[in-house]
Amino acid sequence: MDIALQENIATLETLRKEALQCGGEKRIEVQHLKGKLTARERLELLLDEGSFEEFDMLKTGRGSAIGDERTYPGDGVVAGHGTVEGREVCVFSQDFTVIGGSLGEAHSQKICKVMDLAVRVGCPIVGLNDSGGARIQEGVDALAAYGEIFYRNVKASGVVPQISCIMGPCAGGAVYSPSMTDFVFMVQNSSYMFVTGPNVVKTVIHQDITSEDLGGAGVHGAKSGVAHFTQPNDILCLREVRRLMNYLPSNNKQKAPLVDFSDPPERTDPALDYLVPPNPGQTYDMNVLIYSILDGAEFMEVHPDFAKNIICGFGRLGGQVVGLVANQPAVLAGVLDSDASTKAARFVRFCDAFNIPLISLVDVPGFMPGPEQEHGGIIRHGAKLLYAFIEATVPRISVIVRKSYGGAYLVMNSKHIHCDVNYAWPSAEIAVMGPKGASEVIYRREIQAADDPGAVLSEKMADYRRRFANPFLAARRGYIDDVIFPRDTRHQLIRTLQFLEGKTVEKPDRKHGNIPL
Ligand code: HXC
Repeated sequence: MDIALQENIATLETLRKEALQCGGEKRIEVQHLKGKLTARERLELLLDEGSFEEFDMLKTGRGSAIGDERTYPGDGVVAGHGTVEGREVCVFSQDFTVIGGSLGEAHSQKICKVMDLAVRVGCPIVGLNDSGGARIQEGVDALAAYGEIFYRNVKASGVVPQISCIMGPCAGGAVYSPSMTDFVFMVQNSSYMFVTGPNVVKTVIHQDITSEDLGGAGVHGAKSGVAHFTQPNDILCLREVRRLMNYLPSNNKQKAPLVDFSDPPERTDPALDYLVPPNPGQTYDMNVLIYSILDGAEFMEVHPDFAKNIICGFGRLGGQVVGLVANQPAVLAGVLDSDASTKAARFVRFCDAFNIPLISLVDVPGFMPGPEQEHGGIIRHGAKLLYAFIEATVPRISVIVRKSYGGAYLVMNSKHIHCDVNYAWPSAEIAVMGPKGASEVIYRREIQAADDPGAVLSEKMADYRRRFANPFLAARRGYIDDVIFPRDTRHQLIRTLQFLEGKTVEKPDRKHGNIPL
């Protein structure tokens, strides 16, 4: 063999070895001591065994603007593509052991390359984030590098699914890339996201707060809604990403993969006839209905800890993936508030972008009253959900289980905002408002003048309930396509999904609508 070639082969072996060593044994040990896996270990867990193909393993930066002339193997990020359950996915995994996974020009170029390829090929992109943020030594080049990623996040939005896992620090403007992706996973106790960290908080508003309390997984999973999923460790996090990906198509031109659970479509569940309690003030758990109707009782809930008064998630009916949006009467009586509205709106828009039919299960007493909600913009936020449902062109089916009052009735995928097919259970109550509120308004004078106002109110409420709080008035108008037996819900939904398979909708010629933000 030619000597020069021999030398090149030896160099290649050395460079590859160097890249595979990440930041060296010591730093890997520190990473493990923090309970975190390395960038490469994570990719091994995320992808099908042996499927990872790496790009730019040998890429390094040009050296810094302020005197640090070192270059780093792989420049702190591992990027390429692999498969999840046999389907292609583009990936990048930031390597904290190499200058804190900080992001500079070359690091960003590696990420941008796989993002561009994901869009061209039509496959999802999964980013595993573990980074000290913009590489300080690279100055404005590092900021430019972030900008290129942000730009691509937006261009890829609605074209290929984008998933982010936060598995370490993610601070400053860096948070805006994951937050523009479709789903954000966070690992409990080892990841955090904030625009300004505890030190800045202390300086500016003189408040002591830990990273965990400011932007840990608990906070973002339950309070801010920034994280859709939180998991106790890296291993479970990556397993859940794989699970989620099974519900998603590879791109906006495809449908999510069919999976046959051998769960008979005609399966009925007589227990559902007794799910809604006889007393309308009593709650029940909407999950009972969800798990009963879905294939194999398999449901992947999105945002399980945030705005629990509405349930959003993926399941299958007759093998086909569906997005469920269901009011949860067991939490705040299933009322719609700002958080529930934005949570569901974003979910609806994701499903619509990626050809996933939408099913709403409705039991909603109305919108949450009070100054806190009004001043917090419930008008704007509720409008998002209304807009998202109306905008959605995927098959839309609705089942009114119990309460469906006023504006919330309309917003929750009603016939009047053009859901394709809707059903009601015999327990459905469809009216402008609930019996108490309605009776207090329309019989106010009579009640005030009565010797026993309480008795008159009860009498009026009973009368109102009999006349209005049922599905039959709406069914007589044709506002409900059918009143069904609860036990048949699964079968009914599967048949309707089959029927709607060929749905097409003409889109108006416009640049884009202007969803209230
Ligand atoms: C360059 C960095 C770095 C960064 C960490 N390192 N962050 N190098 N640029 N942003 C290096 C450290 O110098 C160290 O190198 C190694 O990575 C590991 O970091 P440690 O500090 O030892 O780790 P740890 O104690 O776990 O602390 C992690 C950390 C801390 C909390 C992330 O490193 C930190 O505060 N870094 C700076 C964070 C930051 O301010 N980033 C800029 C945010 S603004 P050695 O060689 O000593 O091991 C931003 C703007 C984005 O990102 C704007 C987009 C528009």
